[in-house]
Amino acid sequence: MKPLIAGNWKMNGLASSIAEIHALIDEFSGAAPDDRDVVICPPATLVATFAAEFSDEAIQIGGQDCHPAQSGAHTGDISAEMLADAGAAFVIVGHSERRADHGETDATVRAKADAALRAGLTPIICVGETEEQRKAGQALAVVGAQLAGSLPETADPFVVAYEPVWAIGTGLTPTTDDIAEMHDFIRAKTPAGMRILYGGSVKPANAAEILAIDNVDGALVGGASLKAADFHPIVMAAPGER
Ligand code: 13P
Repeated sequence: MKPLIAGNWKMNGLASSIAEIHALIDEFSGAAPDDRDVVICPPATLVATFAAEFSDEAIQIGGQDCHPAQSGAHTGDISAEMLADAGAAFVIVGHSERRADHGETDATVRAKADAALRAGLTPIICVGETEEQRKAGQALAVVGAQLAGSLPETADPFVVAYEPVWAIGTGLTPTTDDIAEMHDFIRAKTPAGMRILYGGSVKPANAAEILAIDNVDGALVGGASLKAADFHPIVMAAPGER
């Protein structure tokens, strides 16, 4: 499978931030390598500009969320069709920050994943347990329930991102054994051929170790995707297609 390294910029980035993508392309000496997929998910305000600017450099653009409906009276929301129209190829759905801050349920997340597929986007569907759930020995059960409730029923490609909530933005990561156990579990519950990413405090210093784990097909990177100097070594730490 071709590894996928995606940067989730969250609510960060202004028009001037395009300089970081130019810096990333400079690090790649002109274009992203073709043995790995490189995706940047900037805030919605930057999707169209970035998609127009970087289509030739093999940097793909994604949204961070979409509404389940195609259009309608949903002030402030953005549909998957709008993201596709702006040039996005991917969209993150069900990130734990949206599940927590916006009360998104598994059913909402599945509806958003379905919407993404309808619009021709590849959804990156996020799952992951909280610290209390892991401490209580419930991590596999929690993620199993999220998968059962959030994954679309489709033959089209989608991506699953395992992001333990307690590892996001904390500098903490699960042990390699715990990541391997969870990714094996997700693999068994996901249609063949879907890429499974790890996310949560992926940094240049730990990327190679994490990306070498069986059934880790890439990474979803938050803070370290904002700077080319950090994101480039993470992208390059992924083993080639395997
Ligand atoms: P950090 O890499 O900043 O921990 O964020 C991970 C994440 O939430 C990516 O979606």
